[in-house]
Amino acid sequence: MPINVWDYLREYDELRDEILAAVDRVFRSGRLVLGQEGVKFEREMAGYLGVAGGVGVNSGTDAIYIALASLGVKTGDEVITVPNTAVPTVSAIRTLGATPVLVDIRDEDFLMDVGQVEAAITPRTKAIVPVHIYGQPADMDPLLAVARKHGLIVIEDACQAHGAEYKGHRVGSLGEFGCFSFYPGKNLGACGEGGMVVTSNPKHASASQRSRREAPRSDNTAAAMHPSQTWIVHTIAGVSEKAAWIVFRLQA
Ligand SMILES: Cc1ncc(COP(=O)(O)O)c(C=O)c1O
Repeated sequence: MPINVWDYLREYDELRDEILAAVDRVFRSGRLVLGQEGVKFEREMAGYLGVAGGVGVNSGTDAIYIALASLGVKTGDEVITVPNTAVPTVSAIRTLGATPVLVDIRDEDFLMDVGQVEAAITPRTKAIVPVHIYGQPADMDPLLAVARKHGLIVIEDACQAHGAEYKGHRVGSLGEFGCFSFYPGKNLGACGEGGMVVTSNPKHASASQRSRREAPRSDNTAAAMHPSQTWIVHTIAGVSEKAAWIVFRLQA
């Protein structure tokens, strides 16, 4: 018997009326890209996480890319992350021409071995990207302490950890940036693809908004990652008590 990787049909049956009503709302709004539904979702997500704001994008990959681009990460820079993550964590770094520097993970939970980070820092290091893998939070306190000591920015890859908490704080709210994916297989899956970069720093927020609008590109490989498509991120329905949104994407 074939088993689907994402069996969303039962959920769709339960939420069908809400979903279709929301789709209708979006179409009738006259604004298919970056409309009010998307703004509402950004605010709700930010409120849920305890951060000042969110910038909705088309994927978790772009959320990481935009966070890095907002910092001006470029060729020759280094970004510290882990080897056991989805390819996009590293490809977002590579797309900007920067070098991923991989620190090892812990045997017991497969999370970044934060004790190894300081030795990986060089004068070229610009940011650290811990990955909250399998819904588990990375050990943020010692990581943030090392980052502060060296004047580095922490970008949380929370693409697999919506709602996970570290010492009472939701992941994505602890570093300078939090990056989320709403790919259908994620724990907050969309009807299509989606992502969000969240931050409490107004400077980072406006840089992220600018990056989303202007899509800065540092080299040709980036263009290949962003085909000419029209993306929308819109709130369309409640999903569960914990995760109250579905985001979807339309390709024109
Ligand atoms: C840890 C991690 N980072 C980044 C991503 C990229 O997210 P997306 O597929 O929405 O681009 C994923 C998704 O596969 C992921 O699991």
